[in-house]
Amino acid sequence: METIADTTFPVQYEQLEELAKRKLPNDVFDYVQSGAGAEETLRANRQAFEQWKIVPRFLKDVSHLSTKVKVNGTEIAAPILLAPIGMQGIVHGEGELASARAAAKENLPFVSSTVSSYSMEEIASETHGVRWFQLYYPNDPAIAKSLVERAETAGYTAIVITVDTAMLGYRERDRSNRYSPFLLGKGIANYEADAVFNERMSRSENASFLDEMKKIFYKSSLCWEDIAYLRSITTLPIYLKGILSAEDARTAADFGIEGIVVSNHGGRQLDGCIASLDALSSIKKEVGDELTILFDSGIRRGADIVKALALGADAVFVGRPYLYGLAVDGEVGVQRVLKQLKEDLFISLSLAGVSSLKELNEQWVQRA
Ligand SMILES: Cc1cc2nc3c(=O)[nH]c(=O)nc-3n(C[C@H](O)[C@H](O)[C@H](O)COP(=O)(O)O)c2cc1C
Repeated sequence: METIADTTFPVQYEQLEELAKRKLPNDVFDYVQSGAGAEETLRANRQAFEQWKIVPRFLKDVSHLSTKVKVNGTEIAAPILLAPIGMQGIVHGEGELASARAAAKENLPFVSSTVSSYSMEEIASETHGVRWFQLYYPNDPAIAKSLVERAETAGYTAIVITVDTAMLGYRERDRSNRYSPFLLGKGIANYEADAVFNERMSRSENASFLDEMKKIFYKSSLCWEDIAYLRSITTLPIYLKGILSAEDARTAADFGIEGIVVSNHGGRQLDGCIASLDALSSIKKEVGDELTILFDSGIRRGADIVKALALGADAVFVGRPYLYGLAVDGEVGVQRVLKQLKEDLFISLSLAGVSSLKELNEQWVQRA
């Protein structure tokens, strides 16, 4: 087995971030690394992980531990998915193509963003790996339907609807830098390839592509009826990403969807909102028996995943770490990050005395 010592690739997350910083233009790095507002929530995400501590159990046989789990009906190598990250072309020319290939090699699902730099069909043709499609619900039901149908045809096996983005968060660093990858046309591939959107374009005289897309690509009036509509037009499992309250989780369960992603978008949307980790426990109590609970925002190491699983997550999304891997070394970089995370998770679980993922529960953690 190749070991980490064989490579010069950074092992520490902080080194990886530093290397990505040196490689990327300042405005691009800021776009990836920053959070909204004063970045209170960005920091809170990490502080929450530091406040929860693992209580290990010893003298248990962990020699048969496997990190394999079934998520959305498919067995994957570990309870880790690649979070939807838009516009990956800004950090590496191969963007999502490289990330999706790396995910497939590690047998982890790739969640492809609506605003990817390559179209969902191009990404699908690169890999036979498990892939899900993330939907920014457009303000035009015909386009919502078209995007979802294309995802089904291209072999995506779940739809993740991001619900925390009625509009873009107030990101101070991007505003200071006057940087918007969207306005630079970096995340439009799915719309460019969409027949229904192109039809709409042909009817709107003189409108530029970006202006037309800007009009509809977030739906600030998004509400539960839209979720019900989507439920009625697709048989694909639906996950709502951005849920932070037990109340919303309850409504989601009542709407008959398959799961939720407990997430604050990596601190990029509403600044001042609670750390994602602090939302898990009450949500688990409310819907743990009914919904698949996924989690993201702040996962950096294996021990973080142990804590999230103990507090109720069935699996986690990881965001910035793999994007930094992509920035530093393309597909190989993403694969390194995923390999390291898997190995770290395996060791952390074993040292915590977890002999099977099924037994991990809240008794394994304690607030410091
Ligand atoms: C540069 C960047 C772009 C993102 N783009 C999207 C996106 O297109 N759709 C989405 O639902 N979430 C998006 N997210 C949020 C991630 O899916 C995820 O919630 C977040 O990165 C998790 O936090 P972490 O980076 O601390 O792991 C993005 C995050 C980053 C850092």
